[in-house]
Amino acid sequence: MTTVSSPGTPHHTDLTHETLTQIGEIAATLAREAGELIKTRRAEGVSVASTKSSVTDVVTAADREAEELLLRRLRELRPADGIVGEEGASVESTSGITWVLDPIDGTVNYLYGLPSYGVSVAATVADAQAAADGRRAVAGAVYLPVTNELFTAVEGGGSRLNDTALPGPAEVPLDRALLATGFGYTKARRVEQAGVIRQLIPQVRDIRRMGSAAADLCLLAAGRLDAYYERGLQPWDYAAGLLIARESGVHVYGRDADTPPGEPLLIAAAPSLAVELREAITHAYAALDESEIDEAP
Ligand code: IPD
Ligand code: CA
Repeated sequence: MTTVSSPGTPHHTDLTHETLTQIGEIAATLAREAGELIKTRRAEGVSVASTKSSVTDVVTAADREAEELLLRRLRELRPADGIVGEEGASVESTSGITWVLDPIDGTVNYLYGLPSYGVSVAATVADAQAAADGRRAVAGAVYLPVTNELFTAVEGGGSRLNDTALPGPAEVPLDRALLATGFGYTKARRVEQAGVIRQLIPQVRDIRRMGSAAADLCLLAAGRLDAYYERGLQPWDYAAGLLIARESGVHVYGRDADTPPGEPLLIAAAPSLAVELREAITHAYAALDESEIDEAP
C-alpha cells in the first residue's frame, strides 16, 4: 500500500494513491454532472420550493434533484462511503470516507440568474484539527456551470482549474487586499456581520459579496481574490473549496491560530495576509457592542 502524505499540510492519510485518484475523478465527474443538471433546470425556469432558517434561506427543486443525483451516483460508485448533503442526504460510512455535498452553493444567485453558483463535492476523512466539523477533505471538486469552470484538488496534489494548476493568491498587505465575505440568513447573524464589516471596509482595497462560499474559496485559489472570511459556514459550503484553497498555498484559520476553520469563523488568504486579516477580525469582534453579537451557534 502506498501511503500518501501532503506537503501542503502536516496530515497523512492511509488511502492509497489509486484510491485518492479514483475519488478525485469521481468528485470531478459528479460535480460536473450535477452542474449540467442545475444549469438545464435553470434554463427551464426556477422558483422557491421551500425555505429553511429564515424566509431568505431558500431551496429550489433543483437543489433537491441535484442532491438526489449525487446520492444515487455515489451509492453506485462508492457503496461503503458515507454521505452528508445540505438538503438532508445522510448515509453512514463503513469505509472511513464521507462525501460532503452542496448540490447548489449560491442558491440565491441561482434563483436570480446571477452567475456565482455551483456544485460542491468533497470526499472527507475524520480529522479533528482540520475543520470545525472534524473532517478533512482529501479530494474535492467545485463546478461553476455558468462559466464552465471545474476546480479540483486531491490532497498533496495541488489544485487545478480545468487542466491548469492554480497559483494561489499573491501576498498583499491588508490595505491592498480584495476581500470577499458572505452573510448568514438570520437577522441577528447579519447585525453581527454588519458590525464587523463596517470596521473592515476602511482597512482593505474593497469588499466583494458574491454569494457562494464554495466559489469564493476557488476564486481565492485562482488569485482572483486576495482573501476571504465568513462567520457561520456549514461543512458543505467549505468542504471542497477549503481543500482547493489549501492546495493552492492558501492558509486557513478559525477564530484564532489554534481553532480549526469553519464554524464560528473561516479566514483564508496567502500566509502573511491571513494572519493580518485574522488580527483585524479579532479586533473588529472585540469592538462590537454587546447588542450586536449573535449568540446563536
Ligand atoms: C450560502 C452561500 C453564501 C454564504 C452563506 C451560505 P447556499 O450557501 O455559500 O455565499 O454567504 O453563508 O449559506 O445557501 O447558497 O447553499
Ligand atoms: Ca451552501
